[in-house]
Amino acid sequence: MQIQVDFRSDTVTKPSPAMREAMARAHVDDDVLDGDPTVELLEERTARMLGQEAGLFMPSGSMANLCALMIHLGRGDRFYAPKGAHVLTHELGTGAWLAGGMPAELPCSFGPGVPSPDDIRAVAAVEPRGQMYYDLRTKLVCLENTHNQAGGVILGRTVMNDLVAAAHDVGWPVHLDGARIWHAAAAQDILPREAAGPVDSITVCFSKGLGAPVGSMLLGPKDFITKARRARKALGGGMRQSGVLAAAALVALEQELPRIDEDRIRATTLSEAIRAVGLDCPPPATNILTVRPGPGSDATAGDIWAAWREAGLGCLLMGDAVRLVVHRDIDVVAITTAILLITTTAKKIG
Ligand SMILES: Cc1ncc(COP(=O)(O)O)c(C=O)c1O
Repeated sequence: MQIQVDFRSDTVTKPSPAMREAMARAHVDDDVLDGDPTVELLEERTARMLGQEAGLFMPSGSMANLCALMIHLGRGDRFYAPKGAHVLTHELGTGAWLAGGMPAELPCSFGPGVPSPDDIRAVAAVEPRGQMYYDLRTKLVCLENTHNQAGGVILGRTVMNDLVAAAHDVGWPVHLDGARIWHAAAAQDILPREAAGPVDSITVCFSKGLGAPVGSMLLGPKDFITKARRARKALGGGMRQSGVLAAAALVALEQELPRIDEDRIRATTLSEAIRAVGLDCPPPATNILTVRPGPGSDATAGDIWAAWREAGLGCLLMGDAVRLVVHRDIDVVAITTAILLITTTAKKIG
């Protein structure tokens, strides 16, 4: 069955008419040579929003994270990230492969995706003292807010500040994978820079939830971004008249960011309907739902996924759960359609 309503990811959105128009009108130049005016505007505006000195437009979140790791790490260095972090599980191990760092899981005592400051202190306490020449040296903590695989959970403002302080206390910088920092900020009713906290570098995405067709940004101090420009070019990510893409991202910030919390509200409505048919679906922290079979059921997450896909409900099977993501192309009608499909397939799942 063809997908009728697509909840596979918040990346499946189509650019809005306003984005397409802005793309057509964008002032552009060669960004690899000496700068594109629309890209520069986006970089300045986003840096201000995130409380960082400078930004660098990137083709993808994966490249932004990788450039950050390439600058923070050298061969023989270790970096910590919470279990299931995108940099650990969904970026082909490039943190090790191309940035030369040894990935290690940071425990998450505050719940899936959410480490505690004591977790950082605990791993720092067992860092080899005296540092033999063959010991790994930790050089970075990489956090993720919101945490995708843990179901869009938020690292709240106080937790973020405390985690950064704990890492800095032991001399470790913090990179934040803030692909969905917009959702974390909106759900707490705070500014993106308040949600991100005093991190040393941050990745944000315009193509997740904000609806832009392409683009992410790496932000940090000016000298860090100067190094990132070289890393981006080395990876083949230098883009010429990329103002065409930045123009859509600017529209995303102006028109889509103010409405982003609607996705969490719609996801909450959908989660209530899913629980009503006996499935396990905790109320979402942001726009991501994770669904598992209800207590006592013989069904598997694979059965839920198969029944829903057969009915035309686009979703992804991730480990022992089915993931549904609400985004700007999911309106009230799409939620109603999804609830109808979930209700009518409930008997099939058992
Ligand atoms: C938390 C997180 N970080 C990074 C990325 C990578 O972004 P991209 O797909 O643009 O490479 C994703 C993609 O879904 C993500 O969810």
